Amino acid sequence: MKIGDIADAELDQLHALSIAVGWPHRAEDWQFLRRVGKGIVAQDGIGRVLGSAMWFANGDNFATIGMLITSPRLQANGTGQWLMRHALSELEGYKLGLSATRAAYRLYLSLGFEAEKIVYQCQGEAIEPDATAAAPGAAGVRAVGPDDLVPVAKLDRHAYGADRMPLLAELMEHSRGVGLFREGELKAFALCRAFGRGHVIGPVVASSDRDAIAVTRRFVAEHAGRFLRLDTRQKEGSFAEFLSRCGMPVFDTVTTMSLGQRWIPQDSAVPEDRPRIYALASQALG
Ligand SMILES: CC(C)(COP(=O)(O)OP(=O)(O)OC[C@H]1O[C@@H](n2cnc3c(N)ncnc32)[C@H](O)[C@@H]1OP(=O)(O)O)[C@@H](O)C(=O)NCCC(=O)NCCS
Repeated sequence: MKIGDIADAELDQLHALSIAVGWPHRAEDWQFLRRVGKGIVAQDGIGRVLGSAMWFANGDNFATIGMLITSPRLQANGTGQWLMRHALSELEGYKLGLSATRAAYRLYLSLGFEAEKIVYQCQGEAIEPDATAAAPGAAGVRAVGPDDLVPVAKLDRHAYGADRMPLLAELMEHSRGVGLFREGELKAFALCRAFGRGHVIGPVVASSDRDAIAVTRRFVAEHAGRFLRLDTRQKEGSFAEFLSRCGMPVFDTVTTMSLGQRWIPQDSAVPEDRPRIYALASQALG
């Protein structure tokens, strides 16, 4: 096998690879990921794609790794590790984060990654939120779009820990957004876009469960009766309860891992009013 640039791989082959491991990505989702990230494929002698790995740099010193896949008939032969070593050699000097599936967890441990937090993949047929989840009266909730990129990216940077303005610009082109404003200042936002089997809400950034619900509930209401997904690190509390009441119980979990430096601050180290990531943009993007 040889390594190729993922930018040159046929989209249909990448799509077939993720279908082979039961992932929901559509060809459009791969296309989006290739636009915002870089990556490699493992190809056999006649150019068939048998593995992939991608990375998404935010600024000069932080990147996430994702879309690590080995074709099922090749697994447990060292291909995953081989792809990861190539990816890591492209990422020297970067602090790294990723979302590890159970299948990949030991592989990442063996490469020095450390486990930080669990991500709850919540999904299902959305149910109209009840009135108690309504936005707090004093706050202004309104649609946000590409024109709001600067305040969105500023709030996001406080929560995410790295500047992801270019990624957010692309996401906002493909998403609808809702922001919560107090005295003209953006305090929380949620984006929602088509992904996989339906729609995904993420990222969501807010300083409290209440604000996170206020920006999320409109998308839940709009997708009532349809497939909706949200990946969160909130295990308990009113946001987590809101998701399960709205038809999005925990479907699966992955583990946030990091290499080089702790990525997700400990809950106790985050002041109450500081913005936090309530929903990931995706497991690959963090
Ligand atoms: C996760 C995944 C990419 C791993 O790929 P892989 O090609 O099987 O990875 P490797 O072969 O390098 O390592 C996997 C295991 O095989 C073992 N292995 C590697 N070479 C081996 C060999 N020659 N003989 C026997 N076992 C071997 C490794 O020790 C490792 O075992 P461990 O996980 O128990 O430590 C693959 O299982 C996959 O695509 N899963 C579905 C998608 C997914 O979950 N991706 C991860 C996203 S975070």
